[in-house]
Amino acid sequence: MSTKSTLFKDYYSTLSTRKQFKRRMDYLYENFVFDKSEISIIQFINLINNYYYKYAGSLYALNANLKPFYVEFLSSLEPGFDIVDIGGGTGFTYNVIKEIGYSYNRYYFVEPSTYMRDRLNVEDAKLTIISDYIENCWGRLKSSGSKKIYIMNAALHHIIYLEQFAEGLRNAMNNDDIFFIPYEPNNGYQYSMVAIVYNAIKAVKNPRIIARWVLRNLGLFDLFRKCKPRHSSNETKHLTMTLNDLIKDRIVLPEFNEQMIYAITDYGVFDNWKAIRIPDDYNEGFYTLENLDKILGLHVVYLRTYTFQCHSDSNPYKFRQLIDVVARKMFRTSGAKLCMAFKK
Ligand SMILES: C[S@@+](CC[C@H](N)C(=O)[O-])C[C@H]1O[C@@H](n2cnc3c(N)ncnc32)[C@H](O)[C@@H]1O
Repeated sequence: MSTKSTLFKDYYSTLSTRKQFKRRMDYLYENFVFDKSEISIIQFINLINNYYYKYAGSLYALNANLKPFYVEFLSSLEPGFDIVDIGGGTGFTYNVIKEIGYSYNRYYFVEPSTYMRDRLNVEDAKLTIISDYIENCWGRLKSSGSKKIYIMNAALHHIIYLEQFAEGLRNAMNNDDIFFIPYEPNNGYQYSMVAIVYNAIKAVKNPRIIARWVLRNLGLFDLFRKCKPRHSSNETKHLTMTLNDLIKDRIVLPEFNEQMIYAITDYGVFDNWKAIRIPDDYNEGFYTLENLDKILGLHVVYLRTYTFQCHSDSNPYKFRQLIDVVARKMFRTSGAKLCMAFKK
C-alpha cells in the first residue's frame, strides 16, 4: 500500500522507465466500477465527470486573482492570436481576457460539460463554442491555420492520459503557438523548504497538524480521511449527492467514496490521492514543475509560482496575502501553484 513517500512519484520517470504502466485510474476502475462488462474505463471517467458537474456546475467559482499573470503574460504578445480555451468551464479565462482587452482573432471555447458551459452566456461574433473533450478537437483546431494561444486554466490536472494529450497538443501547435497554464498544482510544493518551514510554524500553533501528519505517514488513510474532510460542508453536500446518484444508478460499488470523485475529476492533484490506498504499481506519479516540460515535450517560456501559505489563494487575510507577495519574490519556484507557458 502507498505511504506518502511512495505515493509521490515522478510521472516522467514512470513514463520513461515502463513501456506499459497501470494508472491510479485503472485501480479505481478495476475495483470500484459496478459492472466492467457494461462500462469501459473511458465511459467510466466521462460518467463520473457528468454526474459530478451536474451538481458542481452551478456552484463552481474559481476564487483566484490571476489577472496580474494574464496581464504580464499577454502583454508580451502581439494582438491577433486565436485563443483556444481548453476546459473553458464557466468562462473564467474568457472574462479575464475581455477585462484586459486583449484583441484576439477568434476565441475557441472548448468545454465538454453542459452544466459549466451553459453559464457562459455571452454574445460574441468571434466566439466558437465547442461542446467536446479537447482530445476530439485537435485536428479541427490545427486546420484553422492562425497563430494560437492554447490556454488551459485549472484544467490540465483534469487530464488523465497526459502523454496522449501532450501528443495531440504538440501535433496541433505550430512554432509560433503558445500553451499557457495559469493555475495548476505545484505538486512538489509540500516537500519544498518553504512549505516545510511554514508547516512547522503552523504545527507549533496547531498540534492537530502533527497528529494528522503522523496518521498519514503511518498509512492510516481511512482514519485520516474521516478526521479531515478536505472540503467545506457546502461542497461536501454536492459530492454526497453525486456519490448517491452514482451508487443508485449502479455506476459504482457502494465502497466508492467522495474523495475518489475528486481524485478522478481533479486527477493530477497530489493532495486528492493522499487519503486513497493505491498499490504502488498502479501509481504513475504526478507532474511537477521539474518534469512538466518533459512530459509535454515542450519548452518553458514563462514560469511563476505563487500561493505559499495555503493551497488555495482565496485566503481572506490581508496580512497573509502580504507575506505571500514577499514570498513570491524571494522563492520564485516554490509556491503551491504553477503558472507556466510553453512553446515547441
Ligand atoms: C476546474 S474547471 C476550470 C474551468 C475554467 N477554466 C476556470 O478557470 O474556471 C475544469 C474544466 O475542465 C473541463 N475538462 C475536463 N476534462 C477536459 C477535457 N479532456 N477537455 C476539455 N475540457 C475538459 C471540465 O469540464 C471543467 O469545466
